[in-house]
Amino acid sequence: MWMCVFTLCTAIITAEGDDVTFDLILRNFWNTRMRYSPEFSTYQGEYKYNDVTQSMNLSVIEKKRDEVDLFMSMIALVDKDALSKAKQLEYVIFKDTLTTYLEGYKWATYSLSPLNFLEGIHLFSPVEKAESNTRGDFENYIVRMFNMPKLVDEVISRMNEAIRLNLTYHKVSVATVPAQIGEMLVDVTESNFYIPFNESLKKSVIPEKDRQSLRERGREGIAVVLASYRRLKEYMENTYLQHTRPQPAVKSLRNGASYYRACLKWHSSLDVSPEYVHELGLQEVRRIYGNMQKILNRLSFKGSLKAFLDSIGNDSRFIIDDAEEIVEVYKELVNNRIKPLLPKYFNNIPNVEMTVEKSPFDGTGGSYALASDVNPGRFLINLFRPRENPTFDYMSLSLHESYPGHHMQHSYSMTADLPKYRRFPEYSFYEVPFFLQYFSAYVEGWGLYSEYLGEEMGLYEDDYELMGRYSAEMLRACRLVVDTGIHYLDWTKERAMEYMHNYTAFGPGFIEIEINRYITWPGQACAYKMGEIKIRQLRKKSEKELGSHFDIKKFHSVILENGPMSLKILETVVDNWIRETQISANSGTTSQRNSGAQLPIILALFSLLTYCICTV
Ligand SMILES: *[C@@H]1O[C@H](CO)[C@@H](O)[C@H](O)[C@H]1NC(C)=O
Ligand SMILES: *[C@@H]1O[C@H](CO)[C@@H](O)[C@H](O)[C@H]1NC(C)=O
Ligand SMILES: *[C@@H]1O[C@H](CO)[C@@H](O)[C@H](O)[C@H]1NC(C)=O
Ligand SMILES: *[C@@H]1O[C@H](CO)[C@@H](O)[C@H](O)[C@H]1NC(C)=O
Ligand SMILES: *[C@@H]1O[C@H](CO)[C@@H](O)[C@H](O)[C@H]1NC(C)=O
Repeated sequence: MWMCVFTLCTAIITAEGDDVTFDLILRNFWNTRMRYSPEFSTYQGEYKYNDVTQSMNLSVIEKKRDEVDLFMSMIALVDKDALSKAKQLEYVIFKDTLTTYLEGYKWATYSLSPLNFLEGIHLFSPVEKAESNTRGDFENYIVRMFNMPKLVDEVISRMNEAIRLNLTYHKVSVATVPAQIGEMLVDVTESNFYIPFNESLKKSVIPEKDRQSLRERGREGIAVVLASYRRLKEYMENTYLQHTRPQPAVKSLRNGASYYRACLKWHSSLDVSPEYVHELGLQEVRRIYGNMQKILNRLSFKGSLKAFLDSIGNDSRFIIDDAEEIVEVYKELVNNRIKPLLPKYFNNIPNVEMTVEKSPFDGTGGSYALASDVNPGRFLINLFRPRENPTFDYMSLSLHESYPGHHMQHSYSMTADLPKYRRFPEYSFYEVPFFLQYFSAYVEGWGLYSEYLGEEMGLYEDDYELMGRYSAEMLRACRLVVDTGIHYLDWTKERAMEYMHNYTAFGPGFIEIEINRYITWPGQACAYKMGEIKIRQLRKKSEKELGSHFDIKKFHSVILENGPMSLKILETVVDNWIRETQISANSGTTSQRNSGAQLPIILALFSLLTYCICTV
């Protein structure tokens, strides 16, 4: 009797002990990441590294790999089978994350150019100030300004290495960078870096005499920052741009075909080949085209699809000129049309605030800035050109960015008991595949699945809104064809543009920017459709295998409450859930867990926004 009790206690303590150890490793992992990403840390509201600037020194590449190696050896000491079920899944995801990173290391030299027209220290400033306004916050901000020359040295030295290795961007990726930097080169007190000295300083409790000194040193610091940017601009113009690769395809680089395969696998988080993705894209384009054609038939439109899209794109019935009014229409749509229907499809919807706003920066049609413990989520609509936002596009964009898309998905992972690296992903595109996964296929796949789900929920009110949905889906399907076409199948940029022109309503300006994006971030644009297709496949499989026991809310819980992960792992999670549901159905119990799988229910400006943005 004593023995039994004793053994039982030991078993429990050990199990808990392993969980505790594993949690410690995960926490340690997050802290290590924050140390290497001090600006991200500040953005997250962790203020340990507020006076530190990230290092871009080449030596950091090796150091980061060594750190990850170390975490690999730490988890090797954890007995996975002794962990609780929830932690076992966490273990699998963590190991996959580390493994993927280490596999990407061999491509580290392919990512030595940290600036392109979509990202870099000229768009997302490394001179970040904490949200709070203590004297120390201003002092730290100034320290970061004086770190700028060193950072720019490091960035330039990376790019020189890229040139030396003959592994540079194509011109389209960097041609506009000098002009982008140029926009920042204004007078010190007109600079965005000066804004906190104008506004936050006034709101602070810092005495006036100290404010004066802070302002003076701030101005000196900004002058240093601007001089550094000027130097970077000259470097881009006079050196880097003279050495860009001649072909858009990364396949033209040495071992480029393998590099592209690695990028595609990283972004899709699936073991797929470029040929497969291309073929899948062609199929999807045909299928969606068929759906669009049906709409034309219903509306008795006699012309081509192209003519139809052009005509509705310019039809005053669908155009609102006033940006403020558009924001109101979006709010109404989200709150009164979408949200009331959600409880029919989802359990335990977390209550995390989200605002609907005009986007402060130009770019894609909409984006979502992640909610954090201190900030609400923000659904940002690009209203720089209100006429380019016909009302029939509002529904699909809202479903993607807000509910049940990015904001709702993020709310689930934010409120679940997940390790921080999965709750608050850090983004970087140029470093892929040598970068820690941020699970875009899961996140963007969910966004696109949400657009699909809207159809099932009856949210597209008429054929025009449905056409808006199909156009948005068509863009993502075309990306599979064009991304693989350009990087792997010897397509010219002209052919890619013509293809997009044939199947979407976008003008040549938009299409060219899209294609330049694919050229810059090989494989990235495929994440959306690959993720959606996988989620829909998993759903179909669950419905088929579970028959009358299939419950849509529970299926969604399995996906959402377990948080972001690679699609390979998601598939095993859903498979396990199917099996468990079958077992409990057969044994007649009804008390099954709603997020099943291997794990029990998991409880239910241009400044650094890149860390938290999901675009379309
Ligand atoms: C990078 O770090 C090494 C020492 O690890 C140093 O010698 C070198 O000057 C640094 N490079 C730059 C560009 O700062
Ligand atoms: C800061 O305030 C000064 C004085 O009011 C003004 O001239 C300047 O434009 C402001 N700068 C910024 C970046 O807002
Ligand atoms: C550099 O790479 C390009 C392909 O991007 C190739 O055409 C060229 O021959 C390479 N140059 C050297 C010196 O290897
Ligand atoms: C839309 O209408 C405007 C003026 O009414 C015209 O300038 C523009 O070319 C039209 N765009 C398309 C795509 O037809
Ligand atoms: C675009 O459509 C035209 C007309 O149907 C066709 O001839 C052409 O091959 C298409 N282009 C591409 C890249 O598929």
